[in-house]
Amino acid sequence: MRTQIQRKILFWQALICFAFLWSNTEAQLRYTIPEELKEGSIVGNVAKDLGLDVSEISNRKLRIASESGKQYFSLNLRNGELLVNEIIDRETLCGQSTSCVLPLQLIIEDPLQFYRVEVDVQDINDNSPSFLSDTHIIDVSESTLTGARFRLEPAQDPDVGSNSLRTYSLNKNDFFVLNVKNDKDGTKVPEIVLQKAVDREKQSIHHLILTGIDGGDPPRSGTTQITVRLLDANDNAPTFEQDLYEIKVIENSAPGTIIQIVKAIDLDDGVHGEIQYAFGSLTPEPIKHLFAIDSNTGELTILKSLDYELSSTYKFDIRARDKGVPVMEGHCRIQVAVIDINDNAPEITIASSPKPVREDAPAGDMIALINVKDLDSGLNGNVTLAISPGTPFKLKPTFSNHFALVTDAQLDREKYPLYHIELIASDSGTPPLVSSKHITVNILDVNDNPPVFSEPVYSVYIKENNAPGSILASVTASDLDTGENAKIVYSVLDNKARDVPVSSYVYINSENGSIFSMHTFDYEKMKVFEIVVHAKDNGSPPLHSNATVRVFILDQNDNVPAVIYPSAVTGSVSHQRMPRSAKTGHLVTKITAVDADSGHNAWLFYRLAEATDASLFNVNLQTGEVRTKRSVSEQDDSSQRLVIEIKDNGDPVKSTTVTVDIIIEDEFPETIKDFREKSTETNTKNGKITLYLIISLAAVSLMVLMTCSILVIKCARSNSGNSSCCIRPADSGYKSSNRNLQIQLNTDGPIKYVEVLGGDMMSQSQSFGSYLSPMSEFSDFTLVKPSSTTNFTDTLNVLDASLPDSAWTFESQQVSA
Ligand SMILES: *[C@@H]1O[C@H](CO)[C@@H](O)[C@H](O)[C@H]1NC(C)=O
Ligand SMILES: *[C@@H]1O[C@H](CO)[C@@H](O)[C@H](O)[C@H]1NC(C)=O
Ligand SMILES: *[C@@H]1O[C@H](CO)[C@@H](O)[C@H](O)[C@H]1NC(C)=O
Repeated sequence: MRTQIQRKILFWQALICFAFLWSNTEAQLRYTIPEELKEGSIVGNVAKDLGLDVSEISNRKLRIASESGKQYFSLNLRNGELLVNEIIDRETLCGQSTSCVLPLQLIIEDPLQFYRVEVDVQDINDNSPSFLSDTHIIDVSESTLTGARFRLEPAQDPDVGSNSLRTYSLNKNDFFVLNVKNDKDGTKVPEIVLQKAVDREKQSIHHLILTGIDGGDPPRSGTTQITVRLLDANDNAPTFEQDLYEIKVIENSAPGTIIQIVKAIDLDDGVHGEIQYAFGSLTPEPIKHLFAIDSNTGELTILKSLDYELSSTYKFDIRARDKGVPVMEGHCRIQVAVIDINDNAPEITIASSPKPVREDAPAGDMIALINVKDLDSGLNGNVTLAISPGTPFKLKPTFSNHFALVTDAQLDREKYPLYHIELIASDSGTPPLVSSKHITVNILDVNDNPPVFSEPVYSVYIKENNAPGSILASVTASDLDTGENAKIVYSVLDNKARDVPVSSYVYINSENGSIFSMHTFDYEKMKVFEIVVHAKDNGSPPLHSNATVRVFILDQNDNVPAVIYPSAVTGSVSHQRMPRSAKTGHLVTKITAVDADSGHNAWLFYRLAEATDASLFNVNLQTGEVRTKRSVSEQDDSSQRLVIEIKDNGDPVKSTTVTVDIIIEDEFPETIKDFREKSTETNTKNGKITLYLIISLAAVSLMVLMTCSILVIKCARSNSGNSSCCIRPADSGYKSSNRNLQIQLNTDGPIKYVEVLGGDMMSQSQSFGSYLSPMSEFSDFTLVKPSSTTNFTDTLNVLDASLPDSAWTFESQQVSA
């Protein structure tokens, strides 16, 4: 202890010296002492330091001139030591100022002198840091983020310098750490920093101890208790029971149906735990029009029926918010899957309208494209397409739900010009929905039908002497095709009738098939002819067909009977002679007449129209024979005149008359001579008639004989065995027998009549017959005016010449052929 004090004193003395040296005016002496020295502690030896003797001190009355009330020091006059009079607390004396110097004035008398002494009171660590209060409460919101700082009250330490507060420490805990911050004035301020989130719901109060430590040696410290109270923050967000709600809703469910109740839980208390539901903030508008959420109950309802076809799923968020401040919220995801029901019928679309199809289209020709669609899904949307059965069409699938309507069989427009096809689409739902659509397929005509005449052969009868330009016949052909393919053009094929082209006889209206005559026909020249009518349609290529029109010209009574005998010259009077000795029935003469007409029109009747003595003569109605009715008597006039009328059987009747003068001769040989003298020419003619007739008959018989023998020879030569060759059959071709002359002989010997067939052999029924003497089987035969030749042809030529308007030619060579 002693050594320590001594050491100190030495130290202080050294300091005093030092002070003395650098400031002897300001303070002659300067002592440094620590504070808190005990009373009586020696500060220094003033006498010694001032160079005063001990005796001098007391003598000259060295004393401390007090400057302030309090006397911290006193002088020991015996040895001149300055002593601590009262314990000095530096902190009381000087507060926080770092230097604390107490000035002293020492006064000595005789002579009066004063010395300035300074005592520098040095700080010692005599104070511990201290806090204003022992406990300190801080309220911290539990929601406070880590890193948040809470300033605490700094500790106080009156010591200065190194003895003042140096640092703080905090008891170890999980949540807070200490941070010491220097204020501008140098105060060290403690802060606690939240280093880990706190949760009121786990621990609502944290107790901390803050310790302030100074820099003394040994250090001193002071503590305070800090209570951290955690305030309930709205730190729990509402949480949904499920993060994701997967909801299935049958489409077309009624509006207002509750599809789900969502629930969120908030651990917080009070309003912090009161939840309100709403759609998530990013929910699109359409969703809000479809769904509704009850903000209090969490009931999710649909506002409208959902349509699977519009959308099969909906996804949105629902937000739950509490009413705390700050508001906390939680979200959940809603996934609504709409369950399809079969509420959409299949839809048929005609992608390309059916085009008209040619009737000759091959099978597989595409007509239309058809699409089907069903808005439903799965089986409800699986569509099958069918067409009405019984049509020559089928559906060919191209790709999914696309079909081509193609031909499947041969078409025939003439049978079915168009088809109404029903397309039936059905889905596979239960029950299935069906829809149908009609399409019409037109079949286009192809020229596959030739014109067909109403009859293959037309027979037309017209009366001769028709007016030229009159309608002869009408032929019609029909064509099953249509349009141009059925448009028929008629024409006449130019075959020949009597070496004259038929087209010069007739004209055909090419449009309606009416045939007009361009000629007057004369039965006596032509009895029948054929027109080949050709009908051609306008198709491409055209089709055609022929029909034959047979025109039969009907006879009319247009010829007056012509008298061949007795006189060919009209108006002249024929002279006949007869013996007076003639008995009853004596053949006086035979009137012969012909009629160019045929049939009834050519039947001639003879009648005695006038007579000098009607009782004497009689004319056979049919034969024209003039006979005596009775024996000629002596009283009878020798000159008799007869007018004989010849009528035909036509309508109207045509007639002519012939006048015959008869001379009754008493003496026949003389009368012959007389007669010769009187009328040589007539006489010669009369006399030769019988002769010519015989010659003619002989010639005819000869010709017939020759013809027969030639035919027999021809037959014999023909070794083909065709026995019928001798009999010319009607079907062997009428053309070869176009001109034929046939003479038919009476079986009894005399010629019954001569029939001249001048027309076609075909016209059997209309054969021209010139009845020289109809119904004359019982009579003699008187024929034709004799001529100088024996040729029968010449005879006929005479006959021909006697007929009016005649242009006939007879070819005898055909007879002999
Ligand atoms: C649709 O239905 C047809 C016939 O019923 C069946 O063959 C086919 O497999 C179905 N397709 C689908 C996708 O269900
Ligand atoms: C054909 O046409 C002609 C001239 O237009 C007419 O005279 C005739 O009567 C028509 N024939 C028919 C059958 O309509
Ligand atoms: C029509 O007659 C003509 C001439 O005879 C002939 O060439 C043609 O082939 C015939 N047409 C038909 C369709 O019979």
